[in-house]
Amino acid sequence: MKWDAKLYEQKHGFVAEYGESLLPMIPVNPKQSILDIGCGTGTLTAMLGKKGGRVVGIDSSADMIEEARKLHPEIEFQTKDALNLEYQGEWDVIFSNAVFHWIRDQKKLLEQVSQALRPGGLLVCEFGAEGNIAVIEKAFQAVLAKRGVSYSSKFCFPATEKFCALAESAGLTVENAFDFDRPTPLKEGEKGLYYWARQFYRDELEAFTGEEQEKILAELEEETRQRLYNGQEWVADYRRLRMAARKRG
Ligand code: BEZ
Repeated sequence: MKWDAKLYEQKHGFVAEYGESLLPMIPVNPKQSILDIGCGTGTLTAMLGKKGGRVVGIDSSADMIEEARKLHPEIEFQTKDALNLEYQGEWDVIFSNAVFHWIRDQKKLLEQVSQALRPGGLLVCEFGAEGNIAVIEKAFQAVLAKRGVSYSSKFCFPATEKFCALAESAGLTVENAFDFDRPTPLKEGEKGLYYWARQFYRDELEAFTGEEQEKILAELEEETRQRLYNGQEWVADYRRLRMAARKRG
């Protein structure tokens, strides 16, 4: 998916705000190195800068990295794919917020993370759990099905037990893992779901004319309004999986 870094910063800044609740899980140690996987525009990476000596943010989107460098010139950022980290036992802490659900090959991801951590190193991550945005996904699927188009989710929202098993197989010992509902208000009031879907279903919508896209988004709103709109704002049915794990050895 192509990311629009400025739009993301304006409309989805809440993603980093929620991620702040993970920061107390990261120890403070000026000698430690911290890698932030999928740093986006770098809001949390800059906060992690206060926790460690060397802090690096990586993201597969060059657009996001360009924006992150402008916003936080004091922090090191690199364009890098999470499935090709190529680090060997060199990080004390690996952190990631709201990213792992974009990566379908979570086995390879966890192997890469494990290989990148030094023995005893810490992984702290949070992302979409099983059932995340289920109401939105089901409605989007139904709206496209009416047009003869089959939508199968591009996201990977695993069950906690399954993700923990993958982590253990990759050489990590899970210290803590749980999932929870986190109903998430979307910005822009009545237009909240519209903008959210425009951003995150952009690739799917591009197959339709502009007029048809507007109809699809209106139908998506109608299908989900009763469950997700409270009269003032849209509240997305987010579910999170949070995990802390250590590299064995
Ligand atoms: C999430 O953070 O759960 C999410 C964000 C965008 C699309 C899908 C899931």
